[in-house]
Amino acid sequence: MKSELPLKGKDRLIVALDVPMVDEALRIVEQLDNVSFFKVGWQLFMTGGLPALLQSLRQKQVFVDLKVPGDIANTIAAVVDLCVTMNVTFLTLSESMPRPGIEAARAARDARRSRGPKLLIVPFLSSLDATDLGFVAPGETDLDSFILKRARAALQAGCDGMIVSGRAIQVCREAFPRPAIIVSPGIRPTGASTDDQKRHTTPAEAIRLGADYLVVGRPILKDPDPREAARRIIDEIDAALEPGRSTTRDPRSTESNTDVARPALS
Ligand code: C5P
Repeated sequence: MKSELPLKGKDRLIVALDVPMVDEALRIVEQLDNVSFFKVGWQLFMTGGLPALLQSLRQKQVFVDLKVPGDIANTIAAVVDLCVTMNVTFLTLSESMPRPGIEAARAARDARRSRGPKLLIVPFLSSLDATDLGFVAPGETDLDSFILKRARAALQAGCDGMIVSGRAIQVCREAFPRPAIIVSPGIRPTGASTDDQKRHTTPAEAIRLGADYLVVGRPILKDPDPREAARRIIDEIDAALEPGRSTTRDPRSTESNTDVARPALS
């Protein structure tokens, strides 16, 4: 049976714990008691705090953003296996991961009959824009078609969704209907500093363009009142969601995305 849960703003906001020390991350998690989904990445991994933090976050949903690079199938499977054990909801794979690597990640999760981690590809960083395309992919001239090409290949290999921002949200949503998952970073509430994000949208815009989840770091972490900043974003997401419009499936669902996503990919 299909489990279509109407996710609310509080389920769709993912706060990026971009801080160096696990103690600081835990303080933020405690302070943001209105947030249920957190992203951990390289900073905490490099300082050695990641395993301890994952243990502490077992009651929350966790997104491990390591943009896992290509490696042999055995190594990739071991990483995915650990994510299954740690109850990780989302895991990012590097855009450079070749098809056999993605297939190995998918097979490792399926072998554990696990709902997570959902595998997400980052086709093009949101701190880059069309002017950077020539350096990333010499010969490519159109950013939208480049992002679509990478996302399509990743979905066909077994990924569940993608990380995209700005107008690429709409471009990808039109090409890849739900249940393909779209997570958008580069979120900047009106009036907030853009920092290094070149392709950014407000929370409401990102939802209307077709994002399922929003990743927000500095606009919340650097706010004098982070809890209140998170609340404002959750409210903005809820306001942007028209009743019955979203059919985003709960990421904890066991169902494969590819049975629905694949026909649109040929
Ligand atoms: O502070 P800010 O809201 O810009 O943080 C965005 C988060 O999303 C960071 O953790 C960053 O690593 C991540 N991210 C991104 N662009 C991508 C993929 C991930 O900004 N394409």
